[in-house]
Amino acid sequence: MILHEDMIQPLTLDALDALVTLDRLSHQGGWSRVQFLRGLGSPDNLLCGMWQDEVLAGVVVLGWQPFDAELELIMVAPDVRRQGIARLLVQTAITRSAALGKERLLLEVRAGNQAAISLYEGMGFVRDGVRPGYYPCAGGQREDAVLMSYPLLTDTTSA
Ligand SMILES: CC(C)(COP(=O)(O)OP(=O)(O)OC[C@H]1O[C@@H](n2cnc3c(N)ncnc32)[C@H](O)[C@@H]1OP(=O)(O)O)[C@@H](O)C(=O)NCCC(=O)NCCS
Repeated sequence: MILHEDMIQPLTLDALDALVTLDRLSHQGGWSRVQFLRGLGSPDNLLCGMWQDEVLAGVVVLGWQPFDAELELIMVAPDVRRQGIARLLVQTAITRSAALGKERLLLEVRAGNQAAISLYEGMGFVRDGVRPGYYPCAGGQREDAVLMSYPLLTDTTSA
């Protein structure tokens, strides 16, 4: 399948059930139903997703800060991974953040999430630092957060 950015569209309230299902399928445990509901209704968030046969295949959640944008959540359904959907979702995040004049696209990722770190580094994100022990893990352990950013003002692909 050839992917293009038009396949990623802003989500509205009618996507709520599909968002909760995708979160559960992705073992993301990132946002609760209430958080998705608030995000869908908030001017400070943009949720974009890709539908395949009326099933939500992937989602990216953006948060708007005064000068920067934050990539708050990204997840792709397990049965359609490694097809470039996440790369397209991140590109959409870059395009929409740049269109609003944001300076950087920021994110945090678990230090052990090599799939996500490879995705972000492959798209030009740089590592800005580490927040030690930021994430809780099973068994009471903690995991570092890697802080990454993408410079939007120098981006020429989003014009
Ligand atoms: C991380 C995630 C979003 C990637 O989605 P995806 O659609 O499979 O990713 P893509 O197909 O667009 O992959 C783009 C690149 O990311 C990297 N990548 C993706 N999955 C990877 C994996 N399992 N192992 C190593 N690299 C991986 C590769 O560099 C890949 O490029 P390639 O396929 O040409 O090698 C998906 O695995 C997911 O939803 N994981 C659970 C939620 C999560 O961890 N979100 C990130 C939190 S910060």
